Amino acid sequence: MVLELNRSELHPDPIEQLKRWLRIAKESVNPEPTAMTLATVDAEGRPATRVVLLKEIASEGLVFFTNYESDKARQLDHNPWCALNFFWPETDRQAGFRGRVAKITRAESEAYFSTRPRDHQIGAWTSAQSRPVADRAELESRQSAIEQRFASGEIPCPPHWGGFRIAPEEAWFWQRRPGRLHDRFRYTMLPGRTWRIERLNP
Ligand SMILES: Cc1cc2nc3c(=O)[nH]c(=O)nc-3n(C[C@H](O)[C@H](O)[C@H](O)COP(=O)(O)O)c2cc1C
Repeated sequence: MVLELNRSELHPDPIEQLKRWLRIAKESVNPEPTAMTLATVDAEGRPATRVVLLKEIASEGLVFFTNYESDKARQLDHNPWCALNFFWPETDRQAGFRGRVAKITRAESEAYFSTRPRDHQIGAWTSAQSRPVADRAELESRQSAIEQRFASGEIPCPPHWGGFRIAPEEAWFWQRRPGRLHDRFRYTMLPGRTWRIERLNP
């Protein structure tokens, strides 16, 4: 597939541009179109990356959910700057954002948590994400204990679980083109939440 990306077709707001590309990625065979590699830095300035899922997209930013005691959350507590990157091989596209995160409200996290499948809810209670665990058996026995604890009724959102919203200050969109002359545009936020758009060398 040979697609192009032209300045004239770019939405003036990168979040709206992301929505357009996500819509197309969701119609493709990509099994995880909302998967994004999230980069954070630790207290020593060393980067770390992992994949998370984009769960909400609004003009204020991009939301993902995680364990607030995980490595990524501790890194974001220390330094709220992060970068993220989508790659959609079906359309030969990637896109990225840089910005600062803030935790969403407890009510927002609870509202989303209540929509999750029950086994995901149990998993959020079971996993002390990013901490060492002796063996698989320990995890499974913790899971059984959580299942018994919440055997009836709704499972509440764990206090250590919730969302982060990334407010982008920079974004970029990349479209593969033949001969390595790819189309590439960068959005930079200007005062007043307007965006400067520049074509970059590939
Ligand atoms: C496709 C995919 C989606 C994932 N989605 C999430 C997610 O939304 N939230 C999350 O905390 N971890 C998610 N994970 C697991 C993370 O990649 C990671 O292993 C975990 O969050 C621990 O990261 P940390 O120790 O750097 O904090 C996902 C993994 C994959 C492969």
